[in-house]
Amino acid sequence: MLYTTTFAPQIIFHFKTKYMKVTVVGAGAVGATCADNIARKELAEELVLLDIKEGVSEGKAQDMMQSAALLGFDTRITGSTNDYSKTAGSKVVVITSGLPRKPGMTREELIGVNAGIVKGVAENILKHSPEAIIIVISNPMDTMTYLALQSTGLPKNRIIGMGGALDSARFRYQLSQHLGCSPADLNALVIGGHGDTTMIPLIRFATWNSVPVTELLSAAQQAQIVADTMVGGATLTKLIGTSAWYAPGAAGAAMVESIIRDEKKLFSCCVSLDGEYGQKDICLGVPVTLGKNGWEKIIDFKLNADEKALFDKSAAAVRAMNDVLKTL
Ligand code: 2OP
Repeated sequence: MLYTTTFAPQIIFHFKTKYMKVTVVGAGAVGATCADNIARKELAEELVLLDIKEGVSEGKAQDMMQSAALLGFDTRITGSTNDYSKTAGSKVVVITSGLPRKPGMTREELIGVNAGIVKGVAENILKHSPEAIIIVISNPMDTMTYLALQSTGLPKNRIIGMGGALDSARFRYQLSQHLGCSPADLNALVIGGHGDTTMIPLIRFATWNSVPVTELLSAAQQAQIVADTMVGGATLTKLIGTSAWYAPGAAGAAMVESIIRDEKKLFSCCVSLDGEYGQKDICLGVPVTLGKNGWEKIIDFKLNADEKALFDKSAAAVRAMNDVLKTL
């Protein structure tokens, strides 16, 4: 990206930040939407969209490039049918590959097929971008993040699962519907697993520009908001007939943005825990900062007894899912 600035009259400095390349693997609805968001935000000079289906990523890349003249972005987007050499030198790689959910299906039912896909993708990516930071979106996301970490042996800060960033945005949406306010004015976190029964919307800490929402909503409303947030993805799958993509794609791109711009923004993300929140040898959603090194800091704050019990229950469910990996 080229910046122009004047430090003193008549002296104009031009300086270029490091050339930035990002790859999105999987040109399905989530991958393509994520790529579209990354391009519009101009997070990278070069964006590669890769898919195994002949021509799909090339076609979608060209379609997005044809919107550049209208939207005014400068990112160069190219498609690649399974040629990982084109992804070489990527700073961040978003993995969206795998089967999406069908109505009535849980994210967990996808494990058999998606485990093989995610493992293969992560290995291929690292052959050409050994320094890449990997964001995992494929489901079941907590287990796929754990698998990516185990199979690549990468430093833990470079593997980040997307679930909580999306679920927290859905939580803010549900709160905004009851409060009649802008979702952007709300602060709210979902921690734990990215499953219909494993995620934990932390309503006790949610605020509307610093005002606790628990002061403004009845107990019944709060329970409804938490319940609707937890089945947010399933509700959309039922309506659309397949998994959602606008918010998942936007959540992935927001994470890429915080990493590329070294913003240190706080997101709930699925990361490897080593004693934080009382858990070890598991990847689970907790608040983290995202910056140029991947996830940089876990914000380990005190949960009350009920929240802690939910977190432990969520960890047990995700751990049982991780154990399935051993049988594949
Ligand atoms: C969801 O819509 C992509 O897991 C995904 O929740």
